[in-house]
Amino acid sequence: MSHSLADMRREYTRDGLTEEQAPAEPLTLFRQWFSDALATERLPVEPNAMTLATVDAQGRPHCRVLLLKGLDERGFTFFTNYESAKSEQLKARPYAAMTFFWPALERQVRIEGRIERVSAAESDAYYQIRPLGSRIGAWASPQSRQISGREELFERLVQAEQRFKDQAPPCPEHWGGFRLLPERIEFWQGRPSRLHDRLNYCLQDDGQWLRERLAP
Ligand SMILES: Cc1cc2nc3c(=O)[nH]c(=O)nc-3n(C[C@H](O)[C@H](O)[C@H](O)COP(=O)(O)O)c2cc1C
Repeated sequence: MSHSLADMRREYTRDGLTEEQAPAEPLTLFRQWFSDALATERLPVEPNAMTLATVDAQGRPHCRVLLLKGLDERGFTFFTNYESAKSEQLKARPYAAMTFFWPALERQVRIEGRIERVSAAESDAYYQIRPLGSRIGAWASPQSRQISGREELFERLVQAEQRFKDQAPPCPEHWGGFRLLPERIEFWQGRPSRLHDRLNYCLQDDGQWLRERLAP
């Protein structure tokens, strides 16, 4: 490792996370932290950007950044191409993990659980509020497939624009949302000398959340 990499470290002093501050169930705390992130994080950080990890049929992990687009009592929703690599992985192994990192707040949230497809009506409702360019793009891009170059992408884009020049593009069948149904949510707050706070919520069989503190 280069000397400068080994020397890179930041001391986290901003806040703490005590049991007294943490509610009995985690979605309330996630909403609180997300609203803190909206108020505090500044561009280029996108507060709803997270890393999504999936596993393929061979058990190999893959991760990439996605945008969180919905949150309710059922779980955490994102949208993508249903024929993409991640979607193939989720078909084979319908479990995933998400990580949010909010650097100004010195916070990380880790969420793990089963994945389900959202209803076609829900995907359509979100698709329809996207800008036109994104809606056409969902038709034009065969996400995760090899293409010959940007020209092929532009050709596909022109074809899609032609196809929908007289009508609003409908939500493609190959595009829509997935919902992560959380079974574990961990809140991490950076603290001095690497003695960070970690509060971990695990969903029990009776539907209640068990909260525990983990060593940093
Ligand atoms: C900030 C950011 C936001 C992104 N948001 C999305 C998204 O919401 N949906 C999506 O399909 N890809 C999104 N991407 C692209 C993905 O990271 C990834 O390249 C793409 O989904 C293909 O992944 P896959 O081949 O593993 O399926 C985003 C990338 C970045 C850097």
